[in-house]
Amino acid sequence: MTDSMAAGGDLAALQAETEAQLAAAADMRAWDAVRVGVLGRSGSLTGLLKGLGQVPAEQRKDRGAALNRLKGALEAAIEARRVVLEEAALDARLRAERLDVTLPPRPFPPGGPGDGGIHPISRTIEELTALFGAMGFAVAEGPDIEGDWYNFGALNIPDHHPARQDHDTFYVPAPPGGDGRRPVLRTHTSPVQIRTMIGQEPPIRVIVPGRTWRADHDATHSPMFHQVEGLVIDRDITLGHLKGCLIDFLRAFFGISDLPVRFRASYFPFTEPSMEVDIGWNRKTGELGKGGDWLEILGSGMVHPKVLANCGLDPRVWQGFAFGMGIERITMLKHGMADLRPFYEADVRWLRHYAADPLSPPSLAEGV
Ligand code: DAH
Repeated sequence: MTDSMAAGGDLAALQAETEAQLAAAADMRAWDAVRVGVLGRSGSLTGLLKGLGQVPAEQRKDRGAALNRLKGALEAAIEARRVVLEEAALDARLRAERLDVTLPPRPFPPGGPGDGGIHPISRTIEELTALFGAMGFAVAEGPDIEGDWYNFGALNIPDHHPARQDHDTFYVPAPPGGDGRRPVLRTHTSPVQIRTMIGQEPPIRVIVPGRTWRADHDATHSPMFHQVEGLVIDRDITLGHLKGCLIDFLRAFFGISDLPVRFRASYFPFTEPSMEVDIGWNRKTGELGKGGDWLEILGSGMVHPKVLANCGLDPRVWQGFAFGMGIERITMLKHGMADLRPFYEADVRWLRHYAADPLSPPSLAEGV
């Protein structure tokens, strides 16, 4: 053992050397090399600790204590350097990955990935959601394959109703063990009225956009199409609320602030009274809002007391209104489309022409 060792000079030297190496370590790799060189299995400090056994007995205690102090000091210095280096690395990354969120979006290259648009059906559903959302409506959904009771029975549609006949409705084979009634591909979104009234306490304000199915196919009918249902249930809902709500909606949706709207007495099994809603248009030019002709656009009415009772609601306490309309139909009218079939033909030229910009979702502030 040298004099310098006895005085602990080698330890001071190791500490100074290690601190210099740490200061010089510019990244985590260099830092790790220093750490292993000191504390690793054949590191310098580890070597000194292993050599403690050879130190004369009378010096061993002091030497051991000095080595432990050094170990503590070096571990602290190594840890401190790690923190500094990791912070610096994070800073560098944050600087390198900085995004200017105020930059305008780059236009998608035509034909390249991302050259997409929102399908007009989806766009109309987004618009409906924005407009009715602003009036306090939530969006509800239900299954495409529906039980007979939800699609017909609970809605007060009797067994002999023509809508139940095979030529209108797609039936699914009855499952074994059931009541023998065949499930249907839902013929309208109205069964979600039933599911909503059974599933949640009033007050209720929902719209239900979704797929519907009927055996029908021509320029304005498709076996699969879309409807949006509306349902409002509360203690004091009147026909006035129905009219105000639908007039506001139709004027906002078609962007015509003085769009003429007419309510015409009609019949639906699930509403009483029932009304068909017409908007003013010009039959010859197809222009909406003027021309003195009327175009039927949706069905509506006050929810029938039997329907409320079928859902466990007391009609003496709760009442409300409902409406339903075809999404393809209002989309075609809004954009002047003559034929419904291209909605489902995936013709890229048609889609490019009618698709909406995915980067500008509908909003009340900017119009729909
Ligand atoms: N379910 C009807 C249909 O498919 C549309 C409808 C009419 C829905 C009146 C309603 C309503 O909620 O009140 O033809």
